Amino acid sequence: MSGPLLLGIDVGTTGTRTIAVGLDGKVAASAVEEYPLSTPQPLWSEQNPVDWWRAAVATIRRVLEAVPASAVRAVGLSGQMHGLVLLDDRGGVLRPAILWNDQRTARECEEITRRVGEATLVAETCNPVLTGFTAGKIAWVRRHEPRVLDRTRRILLPKDYIRFRLTGEFATEVSDASGTSLLNVPQRAWSRTMLDALEIDEGRLPRVFESVRITGAVTGAAAAETGLIAGTPVVGGGGDQAAGAVGAGIVRPGAVSVSLGTSGVVFAHSALSQVDPRLRTHTFCHAVPGAWHVMGVMLSAGGSLRWWRDAFCENERAQAGREGAAAYELIARGASRVPPGSDGLVFLPYLTGERTPHPDPYARGAFVGATLRHGREHFARAVFEGVAFGLKDALEILKAMNVPAGELRLTGGGARSPLWRQILADVFNQTVTPVAADEGPAFGAALLAGVGCGAFASVEQACDAAVRLGPPVAPQGDAAQAYVEAYARYTRLYPALRDVLPRS
Ligand code: XUL
Repeated sequence: MSGPLLLGIDVGTTGTRTIAVGLDGKVAASAVEEYPLSTPQPLWSEQNPVDWWRAAVATIRRVLEAVPASAVRAVGLSGQMHGLVLLDDRGGVLRPAILWNDQRTARECEEITRRVGEATLVAETCNPVLTGFTAGKIAWVRRHEPRVLDRTRRILLPKDYIRFRLTGEFATEVSDASGTSLLNVPQRAWSRTMLDALEIDEGRLPRVFESVRITGAVTGAAAAETGLIAGTPVVGGGGDQAAGAVGAGIVRPGAVSVSLGTSGVVFAHSALSQVDPRLRTHTFCHAVPGAWHVMGVMLSAGGSLRWWRDAFCENERAQAGREGAAAYELIARGASRVPPGSDGLVFLPYLTGERTPHPDPYARGAFVGATLRHGREHFARAVFEGVAFGLKDALEILKAMNVPAGELRLTGGGARSPLWRQILADVFNQTVTPVAADEGPAFGAALLAGVGCGAFASVEQACDAAVRLGPPVAPQGDAAQAYVEAYARYTRLYPALRDVLPRS
């Protein structure tokens, strides 16, 4: 007989992951199912919501082959934020979802900013209107596909489409709704001002809940498809960043997560809905009731190292294939032979433009300071260091906002690299602690489900019971000293290069 379990479902960009978690945080079963992403035009990025549902069904079914459905107390949802899902009056999908990394809406975002005015926008939504966010996508559909918008009865975010298929309810929660540019983030409710300015009928939007509330129950039809038991409660959950942060225990002032995925995110709990005056970070509602979060997002963190591996490390990849090792380990081994600061070589990690600290889609990567003495291992180390400098930029902005950052927790695939952990501790000149058995946003979604069904009294209590940390990594004095100078040089490079880079 199995103890009580919580199901977390994360609707990611490459695939959907479902996990079953015990109340002690142990993962009892997990399954992943991938799906395609289409780019019908340059800068466009779309997916079919029905693929997400198929992946959710497949992964739930696989998890329920390993654990009994009767043990599942509640389901929590998490997913890629900002995506636009449009449904007709029968719940049918009207067009492919337009995703968070789609860049087609620059014109619409400028128009919305002009119409609403930046001061009102920031007072209402705490953020600029970015191309990644949802409001510009609705305006784009209105301009280019007006008949689709006429037929739209419901506007949903990616994970909330899965909620609709599981429960028949149209609901969302505050953390994901924060990324639409339609939520009054300080008040945690849809913004009348934004809805009026964009001529959006509130009746077409889902009801907004706090992330720990039950939003519906699995229907008979969904039970038949997934194997879940009809009536199982489905809890709000969170956008992938907020849910991931819950999974890392970032639920009280003072703890900050540094996540090294394809992108890099520095995420802090905040008791207030405070905003960086230069709008370089995002301020959203947290999945913790009554709390917010501030986060800096760099677009190519792990993505920079992947680029380095794929473009320049044929030898390491071949050797890794022969030895059954990971190419990343071999790259790190070489890089660890180079002294901190890479003998003056600096890498700028803006390979796909940047959000924090330079909100500039035309920012570009660069290696600066090469001499005859620099070899490939120096360039590799400079990549590790450049990403760490970019994350330090985000951390410095949070500190300047007086966001407490006494404890730094590392998550994401890149955090598994011992070299990168040490470089981060040295660059930040602060101890960093990896999250053990890092399970990503699905884990946070499962914990939120546990709060919703009463298995835990609060999100804080859920994290205390379930989140485990690995051994802390302390900064090393000499290396930290070397990085003071290297970071100072790094921060001067983007302003110096900006005007010589192509603006298209
Ligand atoms: C957050 C963001 C990404 C997406 C996809 O603002 O754009 O984290 O949620 O992962």
